Amino acid sequence: MRKRTPATAAKPAARQPTGEAPDRSPNPAAPVRIRRAAVSDIPQITELDERVTRIAKPDYWRDVFYRYGSRRQEERFFLVAEHDQGAPAAPLLGFIVGEVRAWEFGSEPCGWVFAFSVDPKARQQYIGERLFGAISEMFRAAGIRTMRTMVARDNQLHLAFFRSEGMMAGHYIQLEKELD
Ligand SMILES: CC(C)(COP(=O)(O)OP(=O)(O)OC[C@H]1O[C@@H](n2cnc3c(N)ncnc32)[C@H](O)[C@@H]1OP(=O)(O)O)[C@@H](O)C(=O)NCCC(=O)NCCS
Repeated sequence: MRKRTPATAAKPAARQPTGEAPDRSPNPAAPVRIRRAAVSDIPQITELDERVTRIAKPDYWRDVFYRYGSRRQEERFFLVAEHDQGAPAAPLLGFIVGEVRAWEFGSEPCGWVFAFSVDPKARQQYIGERLFGAISEMFRAAGIRTMRTMVARDNQLHLAFFRSEGMMAGHYIQLEKELD
């Protein structure tokens, strides 16, 4: 398997911008900080998610924060990325949410990532990788050795990202049925 720089480490500015493509090199003038989400982040998280998914879900995000951002924090991780400007109201650049799930369908405890977004204006600057690396470290510290997520099979962006982080098809498949 291809060896990768750990996502928690700062990467060298290896990627060169070409044409109209965004500048993918890390910007040392605007370092990114990863931290746990706070209740005051909910409006920005809701707004970012609405921009990405085109569906406003304020109740959902309040509930996700209550369940994953404020309880059982040793196994539930709701992280945000922000410009590390030292300002109290630095804009959010992205978020990731996951939890330890144990013994679902006989599966040993694993780390599930079930929500993940980077601001479209801040993509391809390794912020997604930083968030993914941070939650991976938290799962590892919780004793977890396997991470899982779910992607739409035709979503090339999600597949490219998770594949680049070393995730591959697992040995479970998802089944579904339309209910009348
Ligand atoms: C997937 C996502 C989180 C990636 O975030 P990002 O900060 O732009 O990604 P990174 O800069 O950390 O990229 C890491 C790697 O992912 C892959 N990747 C990222 N963007 C890519 C793109 N547009 N095309 C191809 N590969 C890409 C690359 O392999 C990249 O590393 P490399 O360029 O060194 O090979 C972001 O695109 C996103 O938020 N997408 C929408 C997610 C969504 O739909 N959320 C709502 C439902 S939960």
